[in-house]
Amino acid sequence: MEKIVILTGAGISAESGLGTFRDKGGIWTKYPLEDVATPEGFARDPVLVHEFYNARRVQAAAAAPNAAHQALARLQRDWPGEVVIVTQNVDALHEAGGAREVIHMHGTLAGALCGACGHRWQAPEVMNTKTPCPACTRPAARPDVVWFGEMPYFMDAIYDHLAGCSVFAAIGTSGQVYPAAAFVHEAIAAGARTVEMNLEPSAVVSSFDETRFGPASRIVPDWVDRLLEGRA
Ligand code: OAD
Repeated sequence: MEKIVILTGAGISAESGLGTFRDKGGIWTKYPLEDVATPEGFARDPVLVHEFYNARRVQAAAAAPNAAHQALARLQRDWPGEVVIVTQNVDALHEAGGAREVIHMHGTLAGALCGACGHRWQAPEVMNTKTPCPACTRPAARPDVVWFGEMPYFMDAIYDHLAGCSVFAAIGTSGQVYPAAAFVHEAIAAGARTVEMNLEPSAVVSSFDETRFGPASRIVPDWVDRLLEGRA
């Protein structure tokens, strides 16, 4: 049975109203990533970082999955082999769209992590510098998201999936952040067919066998239909 590995990025959630990072008007054009997405930024100004993620948590909780999230859930349900969704997104829109199994390599807005003891728990809607860790009681709560300079989660499992996949798709990601941007090379080494689906060519577009450009809500359901009908 063919295993499909799908890597998603901010572009798949764009039509659900969540901002991307590097597009015109993107999140990193408004907030320098050094300030809000690095351990050094958090050490310098934890109040700013908590406010940034509190706002994103509220926004993500109010967002609804779009046709692209739903199409991938349908593929997971109807494909006779395994479909592994690896997302760089910290929202829960794949799950809200019906996906069963999602690997969140950059963590989730729904999670809290104790910077002192490493305990993880469900994040309250609003976290601040006084939020105590339920395990060690120290006020060292941080969002359970991976910042620049930190190791993404579940890398061993992801590389195992890539080594065994027959199809690899990257959806809505600019191909500028590693290690995710290099997953296509792992898939190629495994002999997989590779497809990029994005609004515009990514930084690693030349590595893919096939490209489909347009809004995710249109091109992803179309690709899923073709796969399930044996046309892709
Ligand atoms: P980016 O903002 O870098 O790229 C989003 C991509 O989605 C761009 O190439 C857009 O052209 C494309 N896009 C925008 N709207 C789209 C739509 N409606 N349909 C399809 N594609 C669309 O976001 P990521 O590649 O996800 O990490 O960024 C990767 C990581 O960088 C993020 O996980 C985050 C960020 O810094 C951390 O915070 C650690």
